[in-house]
Amino acid sequence: MGRFDGKVVWITGASAGLGREMAREFARQGAKLILSARRKERLEELATELKETFDAECHLSPCDVTDEAQVEAAVAAGVERFGQLDVAVANAGFGVAGRIERLEIADWRRQLDVNVIGAVATVRSALPELKKTRGRVALVASVAGHLASPRTGAYSASKYAVRAIGQVLSMEMAMAGTGVSCTTLCPGYVETEIHQIDNRGVRHEGRSKRPNKLAWQADKAARVMVRAIHARKREYVFTAHGVVGAWFGRHLPGLAYFAQSRGGGGGSASSSRAATSPAPATSSTPVDPPATSPIDTPQPAGDNP
Ligand SMILES: NC(=O)c1ccc[n+]([C@@H]2O[C@H](COP(=O)([O-])OP(=O)(O)OC[C@H]3O[C@@H](n4cnc5c(N)ncnc54)[C@H](OP(=O)(O)O)[C@@H]3O)[C@@H](O)[C@H]2O)c1
Repeated sequence: MGRFDGKVVWITGASAGLGREMAREFARQGAKLILSARRKERLEELATELKETFDAECHLSPCDVTDEAQVEAAVAAGVERFGQLDVAVANAGFGVAGRIERLEIADWRRQLDVNVIGAVATVRSALPELKKTRGRVALVASVAGHLASPRTGAYSASKYAVRAIGQVLSMEMAMAGTGVSCTTLCPGYVETEIHQIDNRGVRHEGRSKRPNKLAWQADKAARVMVRAIHARKREYVFTAHGVVGAWFGRHLPGLAYFAQSRGGGGGSASSSRAATSPAPATSSTPVDPPATSPIDTPQPAGDNP
């Protein structure tokens, strides 16, 4: 018996990284899946694999989460196929990196449009069906939503916002007696493809990054994420370093400020990065890969040093 036997689970950002691994874990646990992302061919490959490995039924609903009509159509098609929806995971996201004084307004809009408005669109379009099944919402935030670091202003802002949305949604669903839970997931650093995407949302397939000892593999992360969703936890922070980082952000913000600002705001971040950045990109594109927190990740192009 799997934890999600017979349940229908919708995941955005299912074509790579955490979303893809969660799809595998949900399938292992007996779920039927509605898979969304923009790259349809990736979703097709995944659906074939899940059918062969777990005999899991999948419905492909490609969509861009910044397009509300596409998001609504994506979940509607999946519900038409399976007849119900039990879990919606708003996972699609990417990371804009760079100092606040140098980020352009368009960078901010792009970041918030995908990570925040895209998550809200996912939740809004899923809730009517989730209320019928007393189901579960999961929002993928980040430890960067507990502890902000130099050059992650836009990404952290988006993840603080996602946490706030999760907190409020939990309360509103409880007040209304819907039986719908909301789990806000806050991963620390996990090995995925997030470092391939630059601030403009453009993918650089060949971009590599230095291995990082603090990082979890995505399958391990997916296992604990799916377990937290099943347990209807309100918030779940993970990777050991992520828990430490979130604790410092909450309880010792002065110390976190001191530790992180010692690298100097203007020039090289090398001294702070040695302690804090998990895996600077090694591609030739970025001049100075963005420093990130010890516990989270955006490793996009670093096109804004
Ligand atoms: N990796 C980490 O260390 C880490 C840590 C904390 C939080 N997170 C969060 O975890 C989530 C997943 O990230 P990841 O690390 O797994 O990155 P990833 O490997 O790059 O996967 C991102 C997924 O989001 C999808 N996506 C991006 N923009 C989209 C859009 N506009 N519409 C629809 N789908 C979109 C991508 O698919 P397509 O390109 O095919 O659309 C892809 O499936 C993100 O919210 C991220 O912020 C990651």
